[in-house]
Amino acid sequence: MKRRRRPVVRLLNSKRIAPAAVRELFRSTGWTEDIAAYSPQQIQKLLRHSHLVLTAWDDEKLVGFASAVSDGVLCGLVQNLVVHPDYRGTGLGTRLLRQLAATMRRQDIPCLYALGTRGKKAGAFFRRVGFHPLNWKVFLRSAR
Ligand SMILES: CC(C)(COP(=O)(O)OP(=O)(O)OC[C@H]1O[C@@H](n2cnc3c(N)ncnc32)[C@H](O)[C@@H]1OP(=O)(O)O)[C@@H](O)C(=O)NCCC(=O)NCCS
Repeated sequence: MKRRRRPVVRLLNSKRIAPAAVRELFRSTGWTEDIAAYSPQQIQKLLRHSHLVLTAWDDEKLVGFASAVSDGVLCGLVQNLVVHPDYRGTGLGTRLLRQLAATMRRQDIPCLYALGTRGKKAGAFFRRVGFHPLNWKVFLRSAR
């Protein structure tokens, strides 16, 4: 059987991304709310206000996205982490998360939080990059 070529994917630390590309990537995940439904202006605002935005590119195609919000001193939160379905299971999600964590560490931000879905998969994924689970409760007050 012919093995699939592992694509060469470049990571970029930049907020200069076309909103349509971001929307397309989030749509590919099957998510139809939030970013996939935002206007270009809302996406630009989201990018501008994020502390850090990492993107993954296969040539001209946006295939991964990871962002963090932060106070710039004490802590940050992984806010969006998505890999295009065709590129999953190749280590790209791990690469994005690793680079996000390493960049925050270089900026002397000691704590990086991540919200994972329940279940073993998310646990193993985050542990691999050095995150450990907290026995905290997460509270959300939705404005919608
Ligand atoms: C989570 C995600 C970014 C991983 O990207 P990836 O490029 O496939 O990641 P890697 O190849 O580095 O690692 C694969 C691992 O992802 C983990 N994974 C799969 N779905 C996951 C999920 N919803 N949440 C957390 N981890 C997940 C699995 O443990 C998998 O390990 P396995 O290969 O042993 O099964 C990707 O599955 C994705 O975009 N999912 C939809 C968006 C999402 O749920 N994001 C929130 C993450 S909390």
